[in-house]
This record gives sequence, C-alpha cells and structure tokens, in this order.
Amino acid sequence: MSLKKIPKNSEPLFSSKEISLIVEKVGQELTTHLKNSPHPNEGDTLFVGILKGSWMFMADLVRKVDFPLQVEFVRASSYGSAKESSRLVKVENMNGLNIKNRDIFLVDEIIDTGRTLLALKKLFLEEGARSVKLVALLDKKSRREVDINADFVGVEIPDAFVIGYGLDWGERYRDLSDIRVVS
Ligand code: IMP
Ligand code: MG
Repeated sequence: MSLKKIPKNSEPLFSSKEISLIVEKVGQELTTHLKNSPHPNEGDTLFVGILKGSWMFMADLVRKVDFPLQVEFVRASSYGSAKESSRLVKVENMNGLNIKNRDIFLVDEIIDTGRTLLALKKLFLEEGARSVKLVALLDKKSRREVDINADFVGVEIPDAFVIGYGLDWGERYRDLSDIRVVS
C-alpha cells in the first residue's frame, strides 16, 4: 500500500497512463516541427523548463522528441501587489545561459493567466533568441489575462486547481504520478 497522501477533496483528472499518451503526442508534434525547420547549427535547439513545476514533464517530454536538443532550467515566480493584474514575474537562473541565435522552447506544465510565459518569451527575445516557442502540458484557456497562447499544448482543461505530476498545492503533491483536481 502506498504511503503517499492525496487530498480527500480531490478527484482524478488524468492517470499516469493518460499523461504519457498526452506527452507522447506533444513530443511527436515537436519532432515534426523540428524536422521541418531550418537548423543552421547543431546545438541551436534549447528546451528551457520553468521550475519547479515543469521538471517531471520536461523529463518525460525530451525523451519523446526525436531530435538533438539541449536542456536548461530557469526559475520563475510571480510577485508584487495582491492585485492580480499588476503581478510581476521574477526570473532566476538566467545567468550564464547561452541564448543568442538559438531556438528556444519554453516548457511549462501549465499555462494559466499566461503571465509567466509572456514575460519569459519577452525576456528570451530581448536576450537575442532567434525564436521562442511555448510548450505547455495543460492549458487553462478560460483563465487567460494576457494575449498569449502556447504553440504546443497537451490538453485544454477547465478552470480548476490541479495537483500532481509536478504541480503543487503549497509545495505538496508534486510527486504524484497522476493529475488530480482539487475542489
Ligand atoms: P500563469 O503565469 O498564470 O500562466 O501560471 C504560471 C504558474 O502558475 C504555472 O506554471 C504553475 O506553476 C502555477 N499554476 C497555475 N495553475 C495551477 C494549478 O492549477 N495548480 C498548480 N499550479 C498552478
Ligand atoms: Mg510553473
């Protein structure tokens, strides 16, 4: 019997088997895209995971992408006034990242308001990326507050709080292998 704890007020949304099918689909789409894009130099393709939530998705995703790529991680968190519309995104671990003229794929486990991915996309373009594409496992489209969409999406979900497979609730439940909705 598993000693892992799951919240009582939660219901399964995607089993680990369903997650791997979704990840495989995203991996195939990325493979097709990469094979059909020009690549002046090997090493141009850089997948950047957004910590902490994306680490599990990233680990599974890169194994499903049939193309040479490199992996880095940055940490992003939102801060600022409690008023959500004025939230700012703080990015850590950008130092020493080689971005110039590279094709960046920002990988996040979920796109919600869109503020994190918008801020990071802007930052990476300012730092000289040749292109920036956005990859998200889950998409809460109805929650978007800024004009941005992911280029590669696993699955759209309704406006609900989800945990597991990297997603936390107060730093807990990131280690669950399935994704659950908290009510
Ligand atoms: P955004 O900037 O609002 O698009 O959201 C960015 C981050 O909020 C995501 O990368 C997650 O870390 C976190 N987040 C958004 N929705 C959820 C959720 O339902 N469960 C856990 N974390 C979430
Ligand atoms: Mg995140």
